[in-house]
Parts: sequence; structure tokens; C-alpha cells
Amino acid sequence: MSAQLIKGTEIREQILEEITAEVAQIKEKHGVVPGLVTILVGENPASISYVTLKIKTAHRVGFTEIQDTQPVDISEADLLALIDKYNKDDSINGILVQVPLPKHIDDKKVLNAIDPDKDVDGFHPVNVGRLMIGGDEVKFPPCTPAGIQEMIIRAGVETSGAEVVVVGRSNIVGKPIANMMLQKGKGANATVTIVHTRTKDLAAHCKRADILIVAAGVPDLVKPEWIKPGACVIDVGVNRVGVNEKSGKAILKGDVDFDAAKEIAGCITPVPGGVGPMTITMLMLNTLKSLKFKLGIE
Ligand code: GUN
Repeated sequence: MSAQLIKGTEIREQILEEITAEVAQIKEKHGVVPGLVTILVGENPASISYVTLKIKTAHRVGFTEIQDTQPVDISEADLLALIDKYNKDDSINGILVQVPLPKHIDDKKVLNAIDPDKDVDGFHPVNVGRLMIGGDEVKFPPCTPAGIQEMIIRAGVETSGAEVVVVGRSNIVGKPIANMMLQKGKGANATVTIVHTRTKDLAAHCKRADILIVAAGVPDLVKPEWIKPGACVIDVGVNRVGVNEKSGKAILKGDVDFDAAKEIAGCITPVPGGVGPMTITMLMLNTLKSLKFKLGIE
């Protein structure tokens, strides 16, 4: 039997429509729309394409959007001054500095300079702390984990009491999603295990999982025999394994052997078209939330 596909591309469309409708309502009632600034330093092609898509999506849902592109040799002090300017700008609800930054700039110092109440990436230590506490404390959950949780909820998967196994312990995905799944609340209340490169017998842990979330960055790491029949499999991996000779586009593969896994899992996310499209979607949701917090309507 083939697993139900959890398509990020479809869920993205639903959520972006919901956001667009809410932005229109707020505009009518309060006369304002969310403002998002993305700061891009230099000309890294991958960063340019991410930022372009973020700006395009912000425009689509009715936000005011600013793409602030800075030269690769901007000084750290000047970049910090720019962030300070946007921190003080009342029309801006979300500030995103695309990383990685050039080597002469300390990423951490820059990200930590963003006002936590405009940190729609959810990377600032204050927001990491808020996420750890959970409940009403949470303002901006980081976008990829928030997207994963939303997909699990919208796929109708029971999380309460479920065994969740997270493969990978990064600050951007593994640690925050594990933390979110164990909190009290919707799409959570799970029993969570994090496994990583030093874990003994990865397979044995994965086999216990009712929900298996894989963010390891290793193509085809998870074998079909590691999957419990009927489990929900969320594949966060985006691995470039080659180039399509005809289109010139990268060939992407997840961390899970998809073709074999879909015969065993109950539901599964494809790569591409699974978790990927959710990240920018949740960035939009966080930016909308930021304005709602400011207006006191959230
Ligand atoms: N670079 C790659 N992904 C991201 C992201 O989600 N946020 C930021 N700020 N930079 C990134």
C-alpha cells in the first residue's frame, strides 16, 4: 500500500490564502499591513534566490516588503547600524538577515542585534528561550519546525502520546522541533527522542517512531526497514545529488529512501515539494503575528 503524500505545496497555498484574507481584514479595520525587510549581504546565488522568493511571497499576501541589498564588503558596524534603523522603524514588523554572512562578519552578533519582537526567523536567544518555555511565551517559532508541525496537524496525525523520533540535532531544525513536539498543546504532547551521529543503533530508535522527523542532511540515510508500518515520515533533507542534464536544474534527494519508504509509511513528505515550501510560508505567518502582537489582537 502506498502512503498518503503530505504535500507542502498544497498546504502552502491554503495558508497563504488564509494570511492574505487576514491581512485584508486588518488593513480594513486598522489601516496597516505587516512590513517585512530582508537584508541580503553580497551576491551568493542561493541566498539571492531565497530572498527573492521571500519578497515575492510577502508581496503576494499583501505585506509591505523591502529588499535591502548590501555590498559584500559592508562593515559589521554598518550592518549593525542598519539593523538598529529597522529595529526603530515602526512600519517594520519583521527583520530577516539572510545567512550565511561574509566571513568578516559575525553571524551570531548580527542575528542577536535584531529586536526579539521583530525576529520573525525565531533565531534570537530570547525567542529560543521562549520556545523552550512553551505555551503563551512563544512568539516566533522558527520557520522550518513550525512548518513541520503545521503539516503534521493538517495531515490529521495524532501527536498526543505518540513516539516522535527526531534524527538530527541542529539549532534550526532538530532541537527546536523536538522541543515543540514535547510541549503541551495542539500538534504536540508527544514522547520525543533525539538521535544524532553519535547515537548507537539509529535503526532501533527509528523503528519505534510513530512520527519520524529526519533532518540529518544525508541522502537516503533512512532505510525502509527502519520505518514502522503506518508511521508518519517527515523528510527535511534537501540534498543536491546531481544536475539534470536537460534542464540544468539540481537533482534533489531527501534523507529518506522515498520510493521504498512510501510503501511502508502511513504518510510521508516528498522531496522536493514537502517541507521546503513550508519555511517561507511560516515566515509570512510570523510576520503577520508580529503585527498582531503590536496591535494587541493576538
Ligand atoms: N539561510 C538559509 N535559510 C535561512 C533562513 O531560514 N533564515 C535566514 N535568515 N537565513 C537563511
